[in-house]
Amino acid sequence: MKDKELAILGGHPTREAPFCVQPLVDKREEELVLKAIKEKNFSRYIGSMPEDKERIFTLNSIDALSIDAEWHFLGGPNIRKFSHDFASYFNVKYAIPINSATSGISVSVAALGLSDNDEIIIPGLSYTASGTAPLLFNVIPVFVDVDKRTFCIDPKKIIEAITPKTKAIICVHLLGNICNMNQIKLIAKKYNLHIIEDVAQAPGAKYEKNLAGTIGDVGIFSFQQSKNIMTGEGGMIITNNDKIAKKCRLILNHGEACMDEKSSINDLINNVGCNFRMTELSAALGIAQLEKLDIVNEWRNKNAQYLISKLSKFDFLEPPFIESEVEPIFHILAFKFKEKKINFSRDIFIAALRAEGIPVGTGYTRGMYENPIFLKKIAYGKNSYPWNSINGKSEIIYTSNQCEVINSLIKKEFLWFYHIAHPSTIKDMDDIVKAIEKIYINRDKLVQNYERILKSGDISLKQGRI
Ligand SMILES: Cc1ncc(COP(=O)(O)O)c(C=O)c1O
Repeated sequence: MKDKELAILGGHPTREAPFCVQPLVDKREEELVLKAIKEKNFSRYIGSMPEDKERIFTLNSIDALSIDAEWHFLGGPNIRKFSHDFASYFNVKYAIPINSATSGISVSVAALGLSDNDEIIIPGLSYTASGTAPLLFNVIPVFVDVDKRTFCIDPKKIIEAITPKTKAIICVHLLGNICNMNQIKLIAKKYNLHIIEDVAQAPGAKYEKNLAGTIGDVGIFSFQQSKNIMTGEGGMIITNNDKIAKKCRLILNHGEACMDEKSSINDLINNVGCNFRMTELSAALGIAQLEKLDIVNEWRNKNAQYLISKLSKFDFLEPPFIESEVEPIFHILAFKFKEKKINFSRDIFIAALRAEGIPVGTGYTRGMYENPIFLKKIAYGKNSYPWNSINGKSEIIYTSNQCEVINSLIKKEFLWFYHIAHPSTIKDMDDIVKAIEKIYINRDKLVQNYERILKSGDISLKQGRI
């Protein structure tokens, strides 16, 4: 009897064993990391002038592997191998390792030559770094709403936000889905805008058979531990453009040390001496992890597709919409909770599901425009820089409710399942399905006890990742 009763009302939970998400790591990672340690390879970068400066700056990632210099502007053996393998996989000229995707976005914005008072259009729904990273080079983020079906930036909203100051768009391929790149490319062409693809959550996803990250001017990847492939912390910038690659390599690697009296103004711009380099140990992990990219993507896809098909009988759970051009990779599986179809709120559902032993999150806790940095326009110092720069005052205003779709997704609709990743199996997905079936069968009891559950405090779990 207790098995049939909802756990939130005193019954047994559907599942007692905890769920787990862990990177897929084996002997190959151990072997490469140990080799780096034995060979005393920790970082072989040097930021100072290479002998054949111009040749080295724009040596593509494939050829860079075979140069013999050990101590180098382009990094040591693992960095160059990871760069080589990544460029081969994505079929691009340059793959530039970096210490995080956050740094990758900042560096790309700087390498594209954006500066004070320029505006960059960004979806208001993403991990905070997609919105704050441009500020590092004084570029003004302009947040727009997302498409309510794909959760990616809405091309119509991009057009509405364009001003004479707009210079670029950051397309965040959220949760492994891909933005409507055909429409975005047309807009970028018409208004002469750069496209930065934030591929942190979509490595290996495809749009019309093209890998995400290879469609715009630059693609940025994250290898933070929670990502599909990881190096602990880390990232990659990819591009086919020689000038962008050279600037990225300079900016992330103490750029100013490589400059001399012959350097042009263009070479000097934004070379303010950052060190965003990846270590040899991270690159060793990256080489091994890239070999597993297809396996881990397939792992998440299999679990995600299974859950989508098993839960399709419930009209109160709406899966993400995938455009016909897109082959997604399901970084995290998000459903929309349709309150009107079941007559109780998402927060009660979440409390009931968590009580059944199923971890579920509500995604990001706020739209990026709700970050007080933006609401109060306080970034550098207390005088509203860069919105109040010597190049003029920015008219951009941020408000808590500026994006209707994002607000609704965050406050009422999102249900995020993280446990589609390794090592979760179909058996784990079955537990999620069983728990949801149990809640559905007992939905009347949940409604009858609504007030009691609200008072019990379980509902305080409503926000947050899991
Ligand atoms: C969409 C997106 N962009 C950027 C980042 C930042 O990545 P990193 O932690 O490597 O700086 C993340 C990380 O979660 C992300 O999800």
